[in-house]
Amino acid sequence: MNILKKIDYITLKEIVKNSVSDKRYQHSLRTVVSIEKLAARFDLNRSEALIAGIWHDYAREWNETAILETIKSSKLITPLKDELLHPVLLHGAAAAIKLKKLIPDLSQNVFSAIRWHTAGSTEMGKIGYALFVSDFIEEGREHINSEEKLAIERKTSLEEMVQKILSLNFCHLEEQGRPILKSSISLKNYLDIVFSGKND
Ligand SMILES: [Fe+2]
Ligand SMILES: [Fe+2]
Repeated sequence: MNILKKIDYITLKEIVKNSVSDKRYQHSLRTVVSIEKLAARFDLNRSEALIAGIWHDYAREWNETAILETIKSSKLITPLKDELLHPVLLHGAAAAIKLKKLIPDLSQNVFSAIRWHTAGSTEMGKIGYALFVSDFIEEGREHINSEEKLAIERKTSLEEMVQKILSLNFCHLEEQGRPILKSSISLKNYLDIVFSGKND
């Protein structure tokens, strides 16, 4: 990591620390720990991974009005209809827009990763896959048991990890009678085609 990138990350970490609850900040830090390991394992850009990890939930505690106003004020993102029905799902999009304002030459990899970290999308890219996985398996998470976590970590590609998480998410949402977003379904369908037969 060069000095400029390091300052970028530390500055962003301070902004997040001063903008979200301590619980959310601690989750963000654990997501960074998790994504850093994935970045090393799968040879991803470490700086991009750290920035995506620390910033992804920057807008998670915003109310719906603040999220929607940020989305409407920018031409960078076109929200999907089913996202607009549940604006909290757009907290990643709002966080991505805010980060782009702070860092105009922000990498598209980081922008897309943060934008799509909630639902997943075929547009999320490798950093997006790594963020999606880290957000789900970071050490403080209690929604998965150790067997499920191990099953995810044992996958040999980020794509298969995402595929496994989507399967778990879909079961959970179906049990609760909650809708599954179209972008999630498209991603799952894509991964099922690419990794058919490996989805246990
Ligand atoms: Fe989030
Ligand atoms: Fe998160």
